[in-house]
Amino acid sequence: MSDIAETRPGRYLFQKADICDAAVVRGLFEKYGIDTVCHFAAESHVDRSILKPDSFIQTNIIGTFNLLEAARARGKEFRLFHHISTDEVYGSLGPVGAFTEETPYRPNSPYSASKASSDHLVRAYHETYGLPTTLSNCSNNYGPYQFPEKLIPLVTLNALEEKPLPVYGDGKNVRDWLYVTDHCEAIRQIMEKGRRGETYNIGGHAEMENIVIVEMICDLVDEYAPSPKGDSRRRLISFVKDRPGHDRRYAIDFKKLHEELGWSPAESFASGLRKTVRWYLDHLPWSERIRSGEYQSWIKEQYGNR
Ligand SMILES: NC(=O)c1ccc[n+]([C@@H]2O[C@H](COP(=O)([O-])OP(=O)(O)OC[C@H]3O[C@@H](n4cnc5c(N)ncnc54)[C@H](O)[C@@H]3O)[C@@H](O)[C@H]2O)c1
Repeated sequence: MSDIAETRPGRYLFQKADICDAAVVRGLFEKYGIDTVCHFAAESHVDRSILKPDSFIQTNIIGTFNLLEAARARGKEFRLFHHISTDEVYGSLGPVGAFTEETPYRPNSPYSASKASSDHLVRAYHETYGLPTTLSNCSNNYGPYQFPEKLIPLVTLNALEEKPLPVYGDGKNVRDWLYVTDHCEAIRQIMEKGRRGETYNIGGHAEMENIVIVEMICDLVDEYAPSPKGDSRRRLISFVKDRPGHDRRYAIDFKKLHEELGWSPAESFASGLRKTVRWYLDHLPWSERIRSGEYQSWIKEQYGNR
């Protein structure tokens, strides 16, 4: 079976390829005359980066390097390389303050170190070769279709199934949360109007302690799918040993993006979380396919092994 899928004829083409394969990446840029890149591809799960960092170094650093080289090879025809990154490159904050674009990088996990490294490469390609680039560092995303390994879908599905809800440490680690469509809109605006060579922070204006999020999800699941015994899912919460290098707090100052391009998030955390929990409850077969491995077999069958 072909590894190319065209879903909306003439408008969208999906090609499964490994960005670690330089020759394949280069070939695709030439074949399709690619002049603009919005680079999302990454190994993204912090816990997995602690257990097995190798693939994070390969995909996040070497993969980004391959894409930059392929873009550079397009010469003057190349228009924009937008690199998606994370607030985790800045390290951890104390109880006050927020990351700005000027905050020094202090990554604490193999994941954030590999993303920081890719950010530096993007910056260097702009400075050294004049490649037109933009870079965005955003906070934790959430919303529909997020892989069930991430916090919000994981807690939603486990709460529904009355499974234990383990929370790291004291649960008071703080993250800023950004609804996925707000992130997409910010990226669109940066790509269209952002100054080339610049970095923009993207935040959701929604700083939350992990434990508060887990409790909010329990309450929403109770509301939509009451427990047979009628008691609160909060009883499923337990605290487990903290993970190594667990940053205490992230907060994003996105004044630059707001003042230069007029962007602010449209979704509040309460409304975004409600929509997201509802979505997962309404799409249980989607999550089940991924969790059971059926999705992975389908991907293999459709597109072959990488
Ligand atoms: N999810 C978040 O909260 C968040 C926050 C800040 C930044 N980011 C960044 O956003 C981007 C997307 O994150 P996500 O949460 O959607 O992650 P994800 O793991 O769900 O998606 C990553 C995608 O990259 C693809 N990929 C991985 N290795 C590849 C390779 N070698 N070749 C080609 N494709 C490969 C995967 O197939 C997957 O489709 C990443 O760059 C991540 O660092 C995510």
